[in-house]
Amino acid sequence: MPLQTRWEKIVRQDMEELKKQPELISAAQLLRQGGLVAFPTETVYGLGANATDQAAVARIFTAKGRPSDNPLIIHIGNKEQLGEWVTEVPPLALRLLEYFSPGPLTLVLPHRGNLANNVTAGLPTVAVRIPDHPVALALLQLVNLPVAAPSANRSGRPSPTEAKHVWEDLAGKIEMVVDGGATGVGVESTVVDVTGEIPILLRPGGISLEQLRQVIGEVHVDPGLVHEHTAPRSPGMKYRHYAPRAEMWLVQGEGVQQYIQRRTQEAQAAGKRVGILTTREHQDRFHADVVLACGERSDPSSVARNLYHTLRQFDEAQVDLILSETFPESGLTYSVMDRLRKAADGRVVEV
Ligand code: TXA
Ligand code: MG
Repeated sequence: MPLQTRWEKIVRQDMEELKKQPELISAAQLLRQGGLVAFPTETVYGLGANATDQAAVARIFTAKGRPSDNPLIIHIGNKEQLGEWVTEVPPLALRLLEYFSPGPLTLVLPHRGNLANNVTAGLPTVAVRIPDHPVALALLQLVNLPVAAPSANRSGRPSPTEAKHVWEDLAGKIEMVVDGGATGVGVESTVVDVTGEIPILLRPGGISLEQLRQVIGEVHVDPGLVHEHTAPRSPGMKYRHYAPRAEMWLVQGEGVQQYIQRRTQEAQAAGKRVGILTTREHQDRFHADVVLACGERSDPSSVARNLYHTLRQFDEAQVDLILSETFPESGLTYSVMDRLRKAADGRVVEV
């Protein structure tokens, strides 16, 4: 029986029971033998390989079509393993781990040099996280090695939040997908560099900047996230990402509804199919070929959870143009806006 159909039952079982599941035992074996296994985490599906095996890690880059100067996150099954791979965990990092781990938080720390070189793209630091997902944790504990895992999509495509998204992008290129149903958070982990005196937010994600500041006080934001012309310190942030196939525009300001309707009519008159990304609250305001509600504005976590799936739905609907509403630049929707800006390749109109 595929894992999915047993999912409801399995999540209620304890970790020891989960570790006896034949699917997870084979997945762990495949990983130890150099295979590529996609698995669910609380954020998005990851494409895993043994992070100490250079050849296995090289296959991740090939399967995804990912540039090799973009380092990967290693995933471990418990905090005790951390010391095997990093040279030091500063007090602020320990505090973050205490509050947010397991969870959607990735810390950049100095490594010991015992991981495959291509995991870190030759950098002296490594990005590490402990995912908060029973299937991921059981798998990582069975493997008992760090597992390098970027999101399990083709480079440039929206990240996968369901096993079927992984198949759409990577069928034939990987050994196995462990199906754990839809992921919960929906945007990737928050990446924080904790190697310096003041922590630096490199990628906004499932843990908000406000949450980080509540726990550790001052946190800088990587200038690369704020100014388009500064090179980001997280190499992955410089690539066009998360993108649907159609050209996308973000529309914000007082006149959003009128502007979107006018652009829709113009594009349709020119023979184009138009998609509109909105929320449940505003769905009735718009008329186009496809109008999709990406969660509810009153519940930011629902917007994050539905984001990538919604972008993929526009692809399926084969629209030529996507017009999107925007969200507050705070809390979880700050991360959503970061992804939307990348999906739109920076096309934002103020109306
Ligand atoms: O939620 C997630 O983090 C997902 C799931 C699968 O765990 N993984 C994920 O991995 O998003 P990936 O490889 O797509 O994103 C890794 C990010 C990239 O922006 C990369 O540049 C950055 O982390 N990164 C990795 N190592 C780094 C390092 N040593 N210094 C700075 N940034 C680093
Ligand atoms: Mg990714």
